[in-house]
Amino acid sequence: MTDRNFTMAIVGFGGMGNWHRELIESIDHLTVKGIYDIDPKRGTYAGEVGLFVYESLDQVLEDEDIDLVLCATPNDVHKEVVTAALKAGKHVVCEKPAAICSGDFEEMMAAQGKGRLFVHQNRRWDEDYLTIRNIVKQDMLGPVFKIESRVHGSRGIPGDWRGRKEQGGGMILDWGVHILDQALQMIDGKVKEVYATVTHVTNELVDDGFTVQLFFENGMHYMLEVGTSNFVSLPRWYVLGRDGTAVIRGWDMSGELVRITNWDKNDAVPIKTAAGLTKTMAPRTEETIQTEPLPVIHSDIRDYYRNVMAVMAGEAEPLVKNEEVLRVIRLMEAIFESAKKNQVVPFE
Ligand SMILES: NC(=O)c1ccc[n+]([C@@H]2O[C@H](COP(=O)([O-])OP(=O)(O)OC[C@H]3O[C@@H](n4cnc5c(N)ncnc54)[C@H](O)[C@@H]3O)[C@@H](O)[C@H]2O)c1
Repeated sequence: MTDRNFTMAIVGFGGMGNWHRELIESIDHLTVKGIYDIDPKRGTYAGEVGLFVYESLDQVLEDEDIDLVLCATPNDVHKEVVTAALKAGKHVVCEKPAAICSGDFEEMMAAQGKGRLFVHQNRRWDEDYLTIRNIVKQDMLGPVFKIESRVHGSRGIPGDWRGRKEQGGGMILDWGVHILDQALQMIDGKVKEVYATVTHVTNELVDDGFTVQLFFENGMHYMLEVGTSNFVSLPRWYVLGRDGTAVIRGWDMSGELVRITNWDKNDAVPIKTAAGLTKTMAPRTEETIQTEPLPVIHSDIRDYYRNVMAVMAGEAEPLVKNEEVLRVIRLMEAIFESAKKNQVVPFE
């Protein structure tokens, strides 16, 4: 943890720009000096919360006080803001998805010189993800063979730029980038094949939901789903191992682990339904399983900026690596291709 002080400006001061401002108020050695936004109303609000309001991006980049620029504009504007800031010698934190296509992100990476590019993959600090990742890495369920990661809402896709293709809208780029990044961080090795489907329930122009099947070379089957027309949500996480199952139901972190305690005691009371009988699908008897609370892993999202500052001070390497970001963007391209062709496509 460096004790040097850094000053930043926020370009694109909407919902997420303001989230960063509030977060940074509680981070030592980092100060937000001002903002630039094309919407004058956002400038008025920035003035009310005590920030300097720049009149142009150029004015931000000419300000020698500024070490770091946050780009929190709509997705289609990231490339121009980020490359201009890097070329001006500033460090940059760019919101996700860093770019709409891998070619754009390669150009952004190439614009680094004195300034470094950091991508805000903040959901690597989500406690649900960290908890599942730890359960999988520690083999708490025995060998895991299937992971299901879902995010469900019921309000359709937001009516702003997120609904427009040319602005980088759609759920693959919005939520997909987070949960795909989590998948690639959780499972080692190559993704051999991808199969995806998309929905257009409330929006014709961009996907308002998707399912993705990732087939890893180690045999892992990882299923991801985002829906915006789901009035009943399925669990955020559902993980199947040979010796047990883990579930996290939602944002409140409710869930549990259920693990086998006695494989040999396999008796079951058959279940009679209206039209039949099943022993295979009967619930396990209590003495053969153990239900345990989730071993929750806690996190502090401020560690993201602490790492950025340590890298700017030359004291650390980035926790979120640009090669990892590029891999996720390429994976999203394979997902778009699979959904378009309705075919399994090879990836790595
Ligand atoms: N990491 C996360 O958890 C997370 C969550 C939400 C949004 N985001 C990302 O943050 C970015 C912004 O999303 P948001 O929800 O804040 O959107 P938003 O629409 O609330 O805010 C975007 C702001 O950018 C401004 N803007 C547009 N073009 C500009 C330009 N050329 N120069 C300066 N300002 C410009 C708009 O006026 C607006 O105030 C997106 O990339 C989005 O994907 C990330």
